[in-house]
Amino acid sequence: MDLSSKSVLVVGAGIMGAGIAQVAAQAIRGEGQQVFLHDAREGAAVEAKGKLVVTLQGLVTKGKLTAQACEGALARIVPISVLADARGVGLVVEAIVEKLDVKRSLFRELEDLVAEDCVLATNTSSISVTAIANGLKRPERLVGMHFFNPVPLMKLVEVVSGLHTEASVAAAIFELSKLWGKVPVHAKSTPGFIVNRIARPYYAETLALMQEQAAVPEVLDACLKTVGFRMGPCELMDLIGHDTNFAVTNSVYEANFYDKRYVPSLMQRELVDGGMLGRKTGRGFYRYPEGVPPLPKVTVEPVEASAAARAAADDRHGGVVVQGVHIVPTDGRTAREWARDLGTNAVVVHDRVMGKGALAFATAPGLSAEQRAVAVAHLLSQGLEPCEAADTPGLVVARTVAMLINEAADAVHQGVCTPEGADAAMKMGVNYPAGPFEWLAGWNVAGVVALLDRLDAHYRGERYRVSPWLRAQ
Ligand code: NAI
Repeated sequence: MDLSSKSVLVVGAGIMGAGIAQVAAQAIRGEGQQVFLHDAREGAAVEAKGKLVVTLQGLVTKGKLTAQACEGALARIVPISVLADARGVGLVVEAIVEKLDVKRSLFRELEDLVAEDCVLATNTSSISVTAIANGLKRPERLVGMHFFNPVPLMKLVEVVSGLHTEASVAAAIFELSKLWGKVPVHAKSTPGFIVNRIARPYYAETLALMQEQAAVPEVLDACLKTVGFRMGPCELMDLIGHDTNFAVTNSVYEANFYDKRYVPSLMQRELVDGGMLGRKTGRGFYRYPEGVPPLPKVTVEPVEASAAARAAADDRHGGVVVQGVHIVPTDGRTAREWARDLGTNAVVVHDRVMGKGALAFATAPGLSAEQRAVAVAHLLSQGLEPCEAADTPGLVVARTVAMLINEAADAVHQGVCTPEGADAAMKMGVNYPAGPFEWLAGWNVAGVVALLDRLDAHYRGERYRVSPWLRAQ
């Protein structure tokens, strides 16, 4: 099945539909090939095309598109007010309101209008592809084609197969996505597909740490940005909008039969209930336009300058001992537990180092101010920016990254995607600095599993349940 020479119909001319029409119109080249654009709201498709004229001409002004390519793309986009005006299309991409019954009835209507071999694709971000296909005469030709916002910039397309979807249909969309300049990844229709599922812990762990008063938003954001995330979870939730982020979390939670692993955050619900939705309302975790405040300064007692130079590696914990202070990387044990195991209170646990910058640390009870200063001076001497957090297992980065790995492992365990697919999806769909399996390769399975098991023992419940896939490695 080859869709490259076919005309396309995009239904829904909102944010996503307009972007999809733009990408299709810029990619296709064939004589007579068109991109029809339809919206139920009178005039919306024409308005969307008007905006695309401005967008594409802007690209010409910036030298990113030739005048000829701009003209060609715009000529191909044909707004239509009735669906029946779309002629000879080989693919329909639906990007209408996120409601199962509305999507179902649209596809039923389309079935009678388009050719037998026309592929029907849905851009749904949260509804089961299997459910949308149910009731169609030919459900095997319906497939998910999940783009990311903004469509022209984000490379990922999740090609989602439901129970009915024929492999050749998914394969055709996979190939077409490549022609459209995208990076397609196969996914099985399960709640959140790949990206919206694997990304949950990025928000959830930060929300949990805030709820237990372990660290303030600016510290959590700074620590995770040190790993290479473009935005910290708090900034990102403020940008996405807490209403939207909470709705996605809830939908994944409900769709998984209220598996406690995905339980939403009370803290986020409070923000939603209070109308503190983030940037769009001027206040979320931060106030806008001020945005993220500077990091709280870590106070230190004056310490002898040569302290760092006398750091001696310690085989027992992979850390160092400086002037009798054990400075250890987290393995999931709290500083209090380390102190018990080492038989001394002179313990500082720091987060997993995955870049130069902010790094969370926690101190054992009874550590003196001088001993704390020795540890802080040592971390500073390593080019790190120590940020104090409460004594929690796995601190910030190790805990979050381990949970992202665990969620990805579970997606693979359930056949939702391959490890390569998960890595590509997280890098291309949400700009992660690396994929979860790449992080796993740079860490080690035993270390990740041990950390998760300690989190599990500490909190008790389902959240930190280790994926059987990960344990079996
Ligand atoms: P939007 O609200 O900007 O656009 C939806 C458009 O569909 C509106 O113009 C509306 O008039 C039209 N519409 C509604 N019912 C219709 C019908 N029966 N027939 C024809 N047109 C109809 O929404 P957006 O954000 O573009 O989302 C569209 C779809 O894409 C949803 O399924 C959403 O879940 C999905 N999606 C959204 C993403 C986002 O970041 N906004 C990301 C990925 C997927």
